[in-house]
Amino acid sequence: MRILVVGGGGREHALVWQLAKSAEVEKIFCAPGNAGIAALAECVPIDPAEIFKLRDFARGKGIDLTVVGPEAPLVGGIADLFRDADLHIFGPGGSGARLEGSKVWAKAFMKKYGIPSAAYAVFHDAAAAMDYLDEIEYPVVVKADGLAAGKGVVVAADRASAHTAVQQLMVQKIFGQAGAQIVVEECLQGEEISLFVLTDGNTMIMLPSAQDHKAVFEGDRGPNTGGMGAYSPAGILTPKLLSEAKERVFAHVLQGLRAERIEYNGVLYAGCMLTAEGLKVLEFNVRFGDPETQVVMPRLSSPLPPLLMQTARGELAALEPPRWSADAAVCVVMASNGYPGNYETGKEIYGLEKARAEKGVVFHGGTAFKDGKIVSSGGRVLGVTAWGADLRTAQQQAYLLAGTINFEGAYCRRDIGYRAL
Ligand code: AMP
Ligand code: GLY
Repeated sequence: MRILVVGGGGREHALVWQLAKSAEVEKIFCAPGNAGIAALAECVPIDPAEIFKLRDFARGKGIDLTVVGPEAPLVGGIADLFRDADLHIFGPGGSGARLEGSKVWAKAFMKKYGIPSAAYAVFHDAAAAMDYLDEIEYPVVVKADGLAAGKGVVVAADRASAHTAVQQLMVQKIFGQAGAQIVVEECLQGEEISLFVLTDGNTMIMLPSAQDHKAVFEGDRGPNTGGMGAYSPAGILTPKLLSEAKERVFAHVLQGLRAERIEYNGVLYAGCMLTAEGLKVLEFNVRFGDPETQVVMPRLSSPLPPLLMQTARGELAALEPPRWSADAAVCVVMASNGYPGNYETGKEIYGLEKARAEKGVVFHGGTAFKDGKIVSSGGRVLGVTAWGADLRTAQQQAYLLAGTINFEGAYCRRDIGYRAL
């Protein structure tokens, strides 16, 4: 099998790493990939946004399966383009990708199909939004409708910060059209948990639970990032909660997609809050989580290619269920100095050669080659991952491994997994 993976972060490295273990995989390409992925796949310099180029590449190279990592090409319709060309692709088409691409659409969908979520209001103009903000109680959450690289959500503690958020989104338009509409919603309290299902629209397969640490500083303080680390399994996910998630969230999503005649072949990620009234959906993503994938992939003990291929082909019902190891896994992100604000890049990374562990792997999130050396090229540079019999062991191993690597200004949280320990 010849596979093309679209994307170039830690999530894609984890997918490529797991795919490369399978004997049936003859060759992997990754667009654009990174310096770590280059050890396992041929990196091709095509940006994930260049969906026509990617289709032509897949055709030209006889690709059997394309796996899309990031959301932007999915929202942009890459999967429709590939399917029209009779190419197998893992990921929903543009209409299904609205679950992530438009928060207004996703909220209406949740309401229509009885999926538990926060109460909300939608605004198309700043003046009406400001009036509303004067009447309500705080905290509230202000969200840009469209994609904003994970930065379009503001949890506003008071009226002043909510006003600022609306000003930035709708008047200054810092995220352009993504802020043309906004959602203002009830602020939910509780613990967050990420749930993933693979689905072809008919059958669903739950993947192991994971939790990420969004805040940049220890103790979950400071500004939100894309994720400073993750662990799997998420200790709080009891069997009862799991069936609640299946029945009250995912089954309703599938029902809704069918009712709307939307085909969906890919992964659906529900970011949920475990509230006093039960599980509520904060957001949907139509792709794998990052760094969550970096702790989920190492726990897969059956081959990945058939799982992704059968999802893409709509034949999940015929698939033997995947097997997962009982090990716990922890991923510690090593980030660039300054992240999530303006950060430094181009720093040489030392110790990668020797950073080896029997039960560990260093996934590259933002790295590149420069003069034959591996340097940082993104905010989240490495995802140092380890696994073991329990979370504590996995955590210790991950930090041991991280301790052998360094680059100037490298920053990692020292407490990944603490909530479950
Ligand atoms: P989203 O992109 O919608 O997941 O939002 C990013 C983050 O904002 C989430 O992971 C939560 O930490 C927080 N958030 C989003 N919606 C809410 C909400 N209704 N109540 C509390 N926190 C929220
Ligand atoms: N770790 C959060 C995300 O992938 O959206």
